[in-house]
Parts: sequence; structure tokens; C-alpha cells
Amino acid sequence: MSAVVLVGAQWGDEGKGKITDFLAREANCVARYQGGSNAGHTVEVGNDKFMLHLIPSGILYPDTLCIVGNGVVVDMQKLNEEIAGLQKRGIDCNNLRISLRSPVVMPYHKKIDELEDRHTKIGTTKRGIGPAYADKTNRIGFRIGDILGGHDCFKERFKAQVEYKNLIIKEIYQEEGFNYQELLDQVMEQAESLRKYVADTSYLLYSAIKAGQKVLFEGAQGTLLDIDHGTYPYVTSSHPIAGGACVGTGIGPTFIDRVIGIAKAYTTRVGEGPFPTELHGAEGEYLRQKGAEFGTTTGRPRRCGWLDAVILRYAVRINGLTDLAITKLDVLDEFASLKICTAYRYKGELLYEFPDNLSILEECEPEYIEIPGWQKDISGVTSLEELPVQARDYIAKIEELAGVKQAVVAVGPNRKQTIVSHNMFD
Ligand code: GDP
Ligand code: IMO
Ligand code: MG
Repeated sequence: MSAVVLVGAQWGDEGKGKITDFLAREANCVARYQGGSNAGHTVEVGNDKFMLHLIPSGILYPDTLCIVGNGVVVDMQKLNEEIAGLQKRGIDCNNLRISLRSPVVMPYHKKIDELEDRHTKIGTTKRGIGPAYADKTNRIGFRIGDILGGHDCFKERFKAQVEYKNLIIKEIYQEEGFNYQELLDQVMEQAESLRKYVADTSYLLYSAIKAGQKVLFEGAQGTLLDIDHGTYPYVTSSHPIAGGACVGTGIGPTFIDRVIGIAKAYTTRVGEGPFPTELHGAEGEYLRQKGAEFGTTTGRPRRCGWLDAVILRYAVRINGLTDLAITKLDVLDEFASLKICTAYRYKGELLYEFPDNLSILEECEPEYIEIPGWQKDISGVTSLEELPVQARDYIAKIEELAGVKQAVVAVGPNRKQTIVSHNMFD
């Protein structure tokens, strides 16, 4: 087996960065396939902590090729800053490759995102993600390759876009617009500094897979933030689900061997939208503090709640999960008793499948089972056998309810706090 997709099974921030970094020690290649700098992936190694937004979480291994796929919307300023930040810390980023086809997040996308969110109240990260994907789909976006080509037709199209966006910003929102020439100079300079990383990344990935190399596809966000299959409209504008890995890198589905769903041992969400198992009182606050549940990208407090097995089953279905990686089990250490939602109650009826209608979801009440906690510090545990029996029972319950076995359990943020049951590339 050589190609493995890692996908968030909930609403993002499941620990994808940590698990990707851990598995990347064996991988030849790690590719991001969607999202943009809205993502915040944390990797902790020893006393070092890295927050990655656009760069794949394999970058700490100099021999692992790290690909930003065509499905990623690239804020060139942020990417340049991220590269410079890593270089300052001794990570040269020479193993980074960026798709020529990646659409660029322009400063006007960020501005419009911020202005629109005042009305739509989705609670976006204000990173310009929605407007950039909208322009891509509307065929009025710009790819890194277009900018590097620097042809007159690009400049003409760009000028027309800046004028059009200025119209929106000035006329609708009465805010200051952008100067075309300044913007052009800025994006040309930013693209130029990325030139050495730009490549035909689909071909690189195809060649790696054909050569039997080990490839990881690193999802950003999570299943329930998928534009089609998530809790629309409270979603992001891309396809975090496993299917997105093919579209977002230019790799056919028959090349994918395994899909690992990364799930926290409880549930969190940032931004607006329904969340059936959300805890509003002291337990939610406890999870937030113990789990350090504050957004990696925006610093916003994350909403916290019990584990929701209805969501996990849905993630299994939508992504074709073959395995689970269960993270942050240690955050539950002190609870005397734990709850897992097994179904939703809607107008007196029990629903076992995740509703495809937001107005139904908004009225769903979770049905819980209660399981004893372990009330022991498990953050130093290195094997499943060493876990308290209650923790093993909790994992077994998750596997039973989701219908998929775990392959990885994480008991702390650090690379070494990871328990692997079997080789992911077998
Ligand atoms: P991502 O967006 O899915 O990569 O996740 P984030 O990095 O945004 O958020 C996950 C947070 O949990 C980060 O601060 C990680 O360092 C941390 N983390 C990951 N796994 C574990 C774990 O098993 N236990 C604890 N306590 N923290 C973890
Ligand atoms: P990672 O990769 C959690 C949420 C935002 C908002 C919605 C739309 O770190 O898991 P956007 O800026 O994408 O248009 O915002 O999606 N969101 C995330 N939530 N983790 C993320 O990324 C997220 N990226 C976007 O909070 O609700
Ligand atoms: Mg995150």
C-alpha cells in the first residue's frame, strides 16, 4: 500500500497536523489537497511547536517531498511568511513543491470575506477562502502559473478583476478599494519568490505512487465542513472529504489505498452552526481548558462537546474510512464518567444517520450512553496494553459505534505521545 488519505472526521482541528507529521516519518511524499491558510495544523516535536497553515505537515522531514496541490487556495504572502518562518528555525523548505494550478487568494478576497461575513455570520477565518474558491469556480480567479507567466492577457484580466472588486468594496460596503498597479507589483513579487517551488505536482505524485513510494494526502478542515457534505452553509468552501484528495491533487481514485479518519475523543467546532453534543456549562469549559481548545489560526475559543458517534458513522460513509486515528484521549483523563452520543432524537423519533437537512439537525437532541472514565494520567502511555481498562473500553465502544477500528491513538500533543497499532502503509 502506498497512498493514504488523512481526513478530519469532525469539524476540523482533530489533530491532523500531529498525525500527519507522525506518519510522515515513513512517507516519501505528503500532499495538501484543499483549504488554504484557514487551516492551522500543529506539530510538536520535543520542546518545539510548529503551526502550519499552507505547508504540509511533513515539512520537518527534509527528505519528504511536500506538495501544495492544485485544490489549495494559496495566499502567497502567507506562504512566503510561512516559508521564511520555517527557514529561520532551520527548516530549509527545499522539499516544498507548489502546483502551478493553485488558485491565488488575493488581498481583495480577504477584504470581501471580512465584509461579507458581517452579514452572513458564518464565522469564517477571514482568510479569503470563500471568495477565492468562488472566483475559481466562476472562472475569474488567477492561478500561480498565470501570474508567473506574466502575460498581457493576465494583466488585462487582473485589471478588470481589481476594478470589479473595487466596485463591490466601494459601492456596497463604502470601504476603500485597491490600487491595480500596486496590487500587480505585489502579486508579481510574491509569485516570483515562490517560482522555485512551482511544479507539475500531479505528475510528481503520480510518479511517486507508480514507483511504489509512500504518499500521504493531508486533509485540512473536516468532513462536516465540506461544502457539499457538511453542515451547509456553516462550512468551508472546499472538499475536505477523502474524495477531495483526488480532485485537489490530480490523482485518480484507484491510486488511493487507505483512508484514515482523524477524530478527537470528544468533539469541537469553531465558528457558527449546529452542534448537537455541545456542552455549554462547566464540562465544556473544562474540555476547552484541558484540551487547549483555542483556534490555531484565529485564536477563537472552540466550542466543545461529547463525542458524537452519529458524526463518526457519517464520516465513515462519506470518506470510505478504513481506519480511525483517535486523538486527545488524554484530555478525558479526569472525568469519572464519559458520554457518547449514539443517535439523535428528533420530534420523538430516533435518528441513527446524520440528517442531510440543517433544519432537522438544528432540532436534534443527542441520545447518550454513559461509560466509566479512567481517572488516571495516560499522557505517558506508549502502548494500548498499558492503557487503563476503561480507556480501552472507551476506544472499543468508539470502534463498535463507528464500525471501523482505530489504527492510531494519541495521548498528548507531542510526536512521541502516539500509539500505533499497525503500519499504515502495509
Ligand atoms: P488540526 O487542525 O487537525 O491539525 O489540529 P490543530 O493543530 O488545529 O488542533 C489540535 C490541537 O491539539 C493542537 O494544539 C495539537 O498540538 C493538540 N493535540 C493533538 N493531538 C493531541 C493529543 O492527543 N492530546 C493533546 N492533549 N493534544 C493534542
Ligand atoms: P483545520 O485544518 C476548524 C471553519 C471556520 C468557519 C468555517 C468557514 O485547522 O482543521 P472559512 O474561513 O474556511 O471560510 O470558514 O470553517 N474552519 C475551520 N474550523 N478548523 C479549520 O481548519 C477550519 N478552517 C475553517 O471557523 O466556521
Ligand atoms: Mg486546526
